[in-house]
Amino acid sequence: MKHIIINIGRLCGIDTASRTVLRGQEMKMLGELEGAWLRMDEGRFTSWGKMENLDLAPGEKVTDAQGGTVLPSFCDSHTHIVYAGSREGEFLDKINGLSYEEIAKRGGGILNSADLLHATSEQDLYDQTAARAREVMLKGTGCLEVKSGYGLTLEDELKMLRVIARLAETSPMKIVATFLGAHAVGRAYAGRQGEYVDHIITDMLPAVAAEGLAGFVDVFCDRGFFTTEETARILEAAARYGMKPKIHANELDVSGGVQVGVAHNAVSVDHLERIGEEEIALLAGSDTIATMLPGASFFLGMPYGPARRAIDNGVAVALASDYNPGSSPSGDMRMVTSLACIKMKLTPAEAINATTINGAAAMGLSSEYGSIAPGKHANFFITDPMKELAFFPYAYTTPLIREIYLNGTKVN
Ligand code: NIG
Ligand code: FE
Repeated sequence: MKHIIINIGRLCGIDTASRTVLRGQEMKMLGELEGAWLRMDEGRFTSWGKMENLDLAPGEKVTDAQGGTVLPSFCDSHTHIVYAGSREGEFLDKINGLSYEEIAKRGGGILNSADLLHATSEQDLYDQTAARAREVMLKGTGCLEVKSGYGLTLEDELKMLRVIARLAETSPMKIVATFLGAHAVGRAYAGRQGEYVDHIITDMLPAVAAEGLAGFVDVFCDRGFFTTEETARILEAAARYGMKPKIHANELDVSGGVQVGVAHNAVSVDHLERIGEEEIALLAGSDTIATMLPGASFFLGMPYGPARRAIDNGVAVALASDYNPGSSPSGDMRMVTSLACIKMKLTPAEAINATTINGAAAMGLSSEYGSIAPGKHANFFITDPMKELAFFPYAYTTPLIREIYLNGTKVN
């Protein structure tokens, strides 16, 4: 069905060149048109123009944006929204001075979530996950990556991935799945990390691949978790099933995770709170996207990833929420854009490019999603009128998002 949005105060995220990733200086430019209309058909964008050149087609549906801004939906390329319950007990431990690593060493953290997930039925897990997915959709997210990694046994990892597959069928959002068996060593393998890695390679990966449950593979490659050698073994095994790497790297230490990711053509390396000039230069010369997660830095009181320096040195930077119960219990991508501006010194245009087109690129989706371009899925939202785009990250708790459309259909 033909549908046109009229009286758009500012149409943002237009890309006439249909680019699939923006790097360095390219991230400064957010295609914008003031006083615009936007047309779609069969759930995909077709055209746009200035209001003075508006020519309505007979019978087309008309929506009046009443001067609001139109932005492409957020593309959140790093989440762990399949989990059971919550971990506010550890939140209190953190307030009382324990670090994320200390909590993990005491058997809390990821293993705590794995125990809870084990005791939760697949239906209950799906219901909890679907509620979180709906929450983030209503905050403006249109594409979402979701990881396993709180199962840590073959059975529970498959349970998580089946929940993601079901969500992909039921949610209006575009969902992609990542297998993160190497998130922590499962309790049954305590003290036998090498054997757990063998188990991932010989048992888990083939089973995940047999059911076609994940397009991506991830490893928590960091101090106290998995080594670069173990990461390389897992990535090489996963490549045989066509799974592309996305790595948790350099959150806790200068772990070598960026190097192992780039060497294996990772789609993205994520976190990067602790990277230096060497890693930035390596990323600038590669096709791997640097995904930073300012919500985790905010929640854990960690340093923020050097997104400013990375962009200034020509890196393609994406920003994601890391929505998970331990280090970032929020999937609010607008908050991510605000943190990027306030804490990482990105401009509003850079922050929006990093949370839309580059987020889509970090999920392999950017030829179909992430900007306003002819033929792309019509995923966007309309805000209340704003004089400047900067009002969006500036007024960071004012509810500005008014109408949300995914595949051209209103979902709120
Ligand atoms: O991305 N860093 C590793 N994994 C998650 C946190 C997982 C958890 O604490 O439950 C993250 O921050
Ligand atoms: Fe994560």
